[in-house]
Amino acid sequence: MAYDKLLTRNLGKPNSATLDAYQASGGYQGLRRVFKEFTPEKFVEEVKASGLRGRGGAGFPAGVKWGFLPKGLEVPRYLCVNADESEPGTFKDRLLIEQDPHLVLEGIIASAWAIGCHTAFFYIRGEFHKGARIFQKAIEEAYAKGLLGRNILGSGFDLDLIVYRGAGAYICGEETALLESLEGKRGLPRIKPPFPAVVGLYGCPTIINNVETLANVTLIAERGAAWFAAIGRPKNTGPKLFCVSGHVARPGVYEAPLGIPMKELIEMAGGMMRPDRPLKAVVPGGSSMKILPAAKCDVLMDFDSLAAAGTSLGSAGMFVMDSGTCMVDALWNVCRFYAHESCGQCTPCREGTGWFVKILKRLERGDGVPDDVELLDNVASRVEGNTICPFGEAVAWPVQSYVKEFRDEFQEHVTRRGCPLAAAAAR
Ligand SMILES: Cc1cc2nc3c(=O)[nH]c(=O)nc-3n(C[C@H](O)[C@H](O)[C@H](O)COP(=O)(O)O)c2cc1C
Repeated sequence: MAYDKLLTRNLGKPNSATLDAYQASGGYQGLRRVFKEFTPEKFVEEVKASGLRGRGGAGFPAGVKWGFLPKGLEVPRYLCVNADESEPGTFKDRLLIEQDPHLVLEGIIASAWAIGCHTAFFYIRGEFHKGARIFQKAIEEAYAKGLLGRNILGSGFDLDLIVYRGAGAYICGEETALLESLEGKRGLPRIKPPFPAVVGLYGCPTIINNVETLANVTLIAERGAAWFAAIGRPKNTGPKLFCVSGHVARPGVYEAPLGIPMKELIEMAGGMMRPDRPLKAVVPGGSSMKILPAAKCDVLMDFDSLAAAGTSLGSAGMFVMDSGTCMVDALWNVCRFYAHESCGQCTPCREGTGWFVKILKRLERGDGVPDDVELLDNVASRVEGNTICPFGEAVAWPVQSYVKEFRDEFQEHVTRRGCPLAAAAAR
């Protein structure tokens, strides 16, 4: 089925990143409408009514989060845009930043106005050199045309927006580590509560939102909450960018309403790459989320349906794996990433990630011992729930789910003294 292009409407068009092209296709009309027809408080209510849930991973309702900002405090409020996008398998924000920065910028301005913020930060992953350049240019264009700075579009609203480039640590995508990094410190997650909406950047109330979340705010500004809420499924509203990678014929970013069947997304991405190799498993939400074996893949791609299936939409980075995939090898790969990226602050995470790598390596190399599969589970249960930030779950969940769903394959690595798939491929 073909779906409306809402978030991706300008992608691939000539000069799509420029203000001229954006305005020629109706850009910044949403912001004008919001300034004219709403008060900040009413626009917060509008975003609540749209049902927009955060696209950064946790799926928390955006308007509800904004509503947590304490009232009546005479201190600045900050908006931090999370453009860290480091979750393996996730590459949707980069597309928006590089190809349609004004769609994101318009949402940032409307959101900052709604929450009473006059200084916002765009925290962008260090490796996104091109994106940082393009976004900076978009900001300069916006200042020159009165869309940023003092008295934006004659509304009386002032906003400065500062691009801050990270240094390439995955943990800095976690919102409190992001704040530490933005303050010039090492990106170590903070203990919550207090939550950033109450004590955030420089100790002031702060909202952190993902790039795609804010691009959706532009759509709500343009066409309203009722229109937005009619897209997708109840409590899972709006359009979504899905990153489909792995063994599909056309990996890439695909836009569809929340709630699209997973199998339909695989078809949108050209179906399985090798017709002789059927689907074995899918990770639906980036490397931190629990894996679903093929038998459980008749599922809808939205927050609540995937939660009911025992996993999560996460960042909507979907890895498709065919029957040629070794689950021990795939998990080893995932765990090497987490062992490298653990910030080291919490012992269970710092030590546990190292243990996962050691055990998986010996299983794959044929040096596994009979207790290794149990040991993986055991270590994962000591990491999960025992760390300051959800990084612990981000590594424990893949370990627990790969082992649970493919236990026989893990055991076979012990009994056959190595990888049966690698052995078969070598024959
Ligand atoms: C280890 C870790 C990494 C994360 N990385 C990102 C990221 O790269 N981008 C992002 O938007 N959210 C990331 N998050 C989620 C953020 O902490 C936060 O929930 C999100 O930015 C909130 O925005 P939203 O409400 O608009 O989704 C990460 C969380 C964890 C625990």
